[in-house]
Amino acid sequence: MSEQNDRRALLHKLSRNLMVSVPVMTVVAMAGVNAMSDRGLELIPSAEAAQGEAEGEAKGEAEGKAEGEAEGEAEGEAEGEGEGEAEGEAEGESEGTSEAMKQAVRRPTGYQPNDVGAAELAGKGKTLFNDTSLSSNGLSCATCHTDGAGYNDTFENEYPHYVAMGQNDFGMEEVHLDEMVQICMVAPMAAEPLAWDSDELAALTEYMRGEQEKFRNR
Ligand code: HEC
Repeated sequence: MSEQNDRRALLHKLSRNLMVSVPVMTVVAMAGVNAMSDRGLELIPSAEAAQGEAEGEAKGEAEGKAEGEAEGEAEGEAEGEGEGEAEGEAEGESEGTSEAMKQAVRRPTGYQPNDVGAAELAGKGKTLFNDTSLSSNGLSCATCHTDGAGYNDTFENEYPHYVAMGQNDFGMEEVHLDEMVQICMVAPMAAEPLAWDSDELAALTEYMRGEQEKFRNR
C-alpha cells in the first residue's frame, strides 16, 4: 500500500517537474538565442541540463511510467515504450531523449527520400524555415540558423556524416540531412518530427541543401 502511495507521490512530483521544466527550457532556449551570436551554441546542452535535473529528481519505476505518459501526450505514439528503457535513460543524468524520439528521427525502413521537384520545394522550404508554428516553443529554424548561424563545422561535410547532437542525444553515428531536420524538429524545436513522406520534410531538406552550399562558401 505505502509503495502505491510513494509511487503516486513520485508521479505527482515528476509531473510538476515536467510542467516546470518545459517553460524553463523555453526560457533557456530564448535566452540562448539572444546570446547566440557571441556565445555560439551552448543553449542546447544547457536546456537539456535543466531537463535532466528536473527528471533526475524522481526515481525508479514511477519515473519511467510518468515519462512514457508525458511523451505519449506530446507524440501521440509512445505507447509501446518499455518501462525499463525509460528508467535506464532517465537515470543517465542529462540523457533526456527517449527511445521513441530516437527512433522517430531515423529514416524508416524502406524510406526513399523525396527528390522530386526539388527547385520548387526550396521555396516552400524557406517559408517553413521561418515558420515559428513548426515548433512548440515559439522558435523557428531561422531563430537559430539565420545567415549560417548555429551550425558546427560538420555542416560542411557530405551527408550522411557525424553530428555531435545526433551522436550525443540520439545515439546516431552519422545522420542524413533529412534526419538532421528531424533532430532539430524534435530537440531544439521541441516538436514532433515531420511525416517522412511529407512535402514539408522534403521542402525543408531541400532548402537546407542550399543553406549548406552557402555555409560552405562563407
Ligand atoms: C534552438 C536553436 C535551434 C533551432 C531552433 C534549430 N536548430 Fe538546427 N541546429 C542547432 C544546433 C545547436 C546545431 C548544431 C548541432 C551539432 O553540431 O551538434 C544545429 C545544426 C543543424 C544542422 C546541421 C547539422 C550538421 O552539422 O550537419 C541542420 C541541417 C539543422 N540544424 C537544421 C535545422 C532545421 C531545419 C531547423 C528547423 C526545423 C533547425 N535546425 C532548428 C540548433 C537549432
